[in-house]
Amino acid sequence: MSQRPSQSPPQSFNQSVIEEFRANGGKVGGPFEGSELLLLTTTGAASGKPHTVPLGCVRDGELLLVVGSNLGAPDHPDWYRNLLAHPQVRVEIGTAAYEAIAVPAEGERRDRLFARAVSVAPGYGDYQARTSRTLPVVVLESAEPAYVKSDGELPSAVTSLADKLVQVHTWLRAQLRHVRDEAEAHLAARAAHQGPEAPLAPGLGLQIRQHCLAFCQSLEFHHTGEDAHIFPMVARYHPGLRPALDRLQEEHRTIARIQSDLLALLADIDNADPKRFLTDLERMSDELRAHLAYEEEQLIPALADVPWPPSAPTP
Ligand SMILES: [Fe+2]
Ligand SMILES: [Fe+2]
Repeated sequence: MSQRPSQSPPQSFNQSVIEEFRANGGKVGGPFEGSELLLLTTTGAASGKPHTVPLGCVRDGELLLVVGSNLGAPDHPDWYRNLLAHPQVRVEIGTAAYEAIAVPAEGERRDRLFARAVSVAPGYGDYQARTSRTLPVVVLESAEPAYVKSDGELPSAVTSLADKLVQVHTWLRAQLRHVRDEAEAHLAARAAHQGPEAPLAPGLGLQIRQHCLAFCQSLEFHHTGEDAHIFPMVARYHPGLRPALDRLQEEHRTIARIQSDLLALLADIDNADPKRFLTDLERMSDELRAHLAYEEEQLIPALADVPWPPSAPTP
C-alpha cells in the first residue's frame, strides 16, 4: 500500500499536502489518491503553538480514528504527544472543520479499533510489526456532542454577549456532568470486578483524563477571559456591580485551586486514587454550578445589550 502520512514528514512536503487538501475540498492526489485524509491541528505540548499535520484516518461506524504509527518508528509522533498535553484539537475532513477532543483508546477497545484500522489499511499492521511500542489509536470526538443539548437550553441564536455566556456555561455544565458520569461508572465497574471486600485499585484511564483535561483547559480559558475582559468592561459601565464582580473573581480563584488538585491527580493517572478524584470532582461541581448560576443572575442583564460576535472596529 502507499505510505500513509502518519509521521512527521519534512515540513515542505507537509505544507504542500495541507495546501492541496484545503484547495480541493479535502482531496489529495499522488500517493494519497483514494485514501481518506484529514488535517489534525494540535497545540504544541512545549511551544503552545498550533501544529497541523495531514493524517490517514479510518472510520468505525460513527467513530473517526487516527493511528499514531509514525511509520513504525520507535517514538510516538509529535501530534500524539501534543494531544496528551492538550486534548482539544481541530479536525478538517472533506470540506468540514470542527473542534474535537482526542481520546486514545485503551485495552480491548484499542485492540478492536486497531484491528479495524488494519482491515481498512493493512499497512498499519506492518508499522506495528516494526516497533515494540503499541501504536496508539486515537478517537476524535466532536467537542459538541449531543449531551450538551440535554443539559440546558442553548440560545437558538447567539446575538449578544449574554447569549454567548449562556452557551459557554451550558457546554461547561454538560462537560463536567459527563466527566462525573464517566468517573462514577469507572469506579462502579472496578468495584464490581474486584468484589465488595477488595480495596479499589488505583488508576483512572486515558478517557477520563482527556475529558477532564479538556474541561479544565476550557474552564481556565473562560475564566481568564472573564477576568481580563468581561469583568473590567462590566465594572466600567455598571459600577454598582463591583461587589458581585469581586465575589465572582474570588470564586474563580477557589475553582482554580480545586482544578489544580484535579490536574495533580491526572498527572499520574496510573496511580491516581479514583475515590479522591471523584471527591475533588464533586467539590468542583458544587462550586462551579453555584458560580455559574450567580454569574448569570448578576451579569446577564448587563451583557444583553452587548452585540456578539463583536463588530469589527471601524478604520
Ligand atoms: Fe466566571
Ligand atoms: Fe462564566
